Amino acid sequence: TDSSQVYVREVGPRDGLQHEQTWLDTADKLNWIEQLGEAGLTYIEITSFVSPSWIPALADADEVARTLKKSPGVTYAALVPNRKGLERALLANIDEVAIFLSASETHNQKNINADTESALARLSRVAEEARQSGKAVRGYLSMAFGCPYEGKVEVDEVERLAERLFEMGVTELSLGDTIGIAGPKQIEAVISRLGRMIPLERLALHPHNTYGTGLANIYAAFQLGIRRFDGSTGGIGGCPYARGASGNVATEDLVYLMQTLGAKTGNDLVRLTSSAQWIEKRLGRPLPSSQLQLSKEE
Ligand code: HMG
Ligand code: MG
Repeated sequence: TDSSQVYVREVGPRDGLQHEQTWLDTADKLNWIEQLGEAGLTYIEITSFVSPSWIPALADADEVARTLKKSPGVTYAALVPNRKGLERALLANIDEVAIFLSASETHNQKNINADTESALARLSRVAEEARQSGKAVRGYLSMAFGCPYEGKVEVDEVERLAERLFEMGVTELSLGDTIGIAGPKQIEAVISRLGRMIPLERLALHPHNTYGTGLANIYAAFQLGIRRFDGSTGGIGGCPYARGASGNVATEDLVYLMQTLGAKTGNDLVRLTSSAQWIEKRLGRPLPSSQLQLSKEE
């Protein structure tokens, strides 16, 4: 494999929008997703098949997934919490599903109304059925670097749950710094530990930028050999069931960083930034992306 190739997973239409107070019309979501594909993104998490009463902003998941104009070469994925969600995802013919779990017992309770063990049992059935239906399954492990409710999260627990998710057949596991609390040293510690058991090309980093350490964390993971990163165009995002969560690292800032490192993402920075400008207008509030700020000075 080419070590300069980096795979960007765009989570804006999902992680980004799930936390927004403004309702974005289905047509606008579709328009934005199309722009993201045109910017060269090959993996886009477009929505969540979760309970609409838990995440009202994505209540139109079925319609978004069904009416989407798919571009060749783009994988369209969605979050699925349970069998009901999988049923909806399959009906909407989503390309890939993402199952999610937290390394924090309290966060699982708050986010999916289940304890960690019952969530594992539930997810293992979902993963099995998804694979039987020919869908690849991606995994998320949230609070992998710390939790607003429990504080420190033991790396042993992160390792144990990561292994459980791989046993379910996830093709890739995204390590979530859900509240953006990590710094580069901790990123190194956790990834080095997991890297003893799991090939690095099966791991992704999902940074949030609450404390401004997002890009530093990406660089630390890149130096260790991680080549899969989650970003959200404009830098929107956050889990409404995690106190203090704020936006993801902006995809365009991630792509810029990769350019400075001589890494290839296949993404068009100008188009990504225009789509960030577009979504900023629609949401009607200033978004945190650095590329976006710069584009306004031109
Ligand atoms: P629950 O209330 O325990 O569900 O929620 P239930 O099984 O008891 O069902 C209650 C009702 O909800 C029933 O309807 C179900 O049919 C319905 P009723 O019979 O009362 O009319 N229901 C559903 N409807 C549509 N789609 C479904 C579904 N499931 C049940 N899939 C549940 C449990 C898991 C559903 C809920 O807690 C939930 O949806 N949670 C999702 C929360 C969420 O999306 N959080 C944000 C994503 S995670 C994140 O942001 C972190 C990440 O970015 C990584 C990182 O940053 O670390 C991924
Ligand atoms: Mg997230």
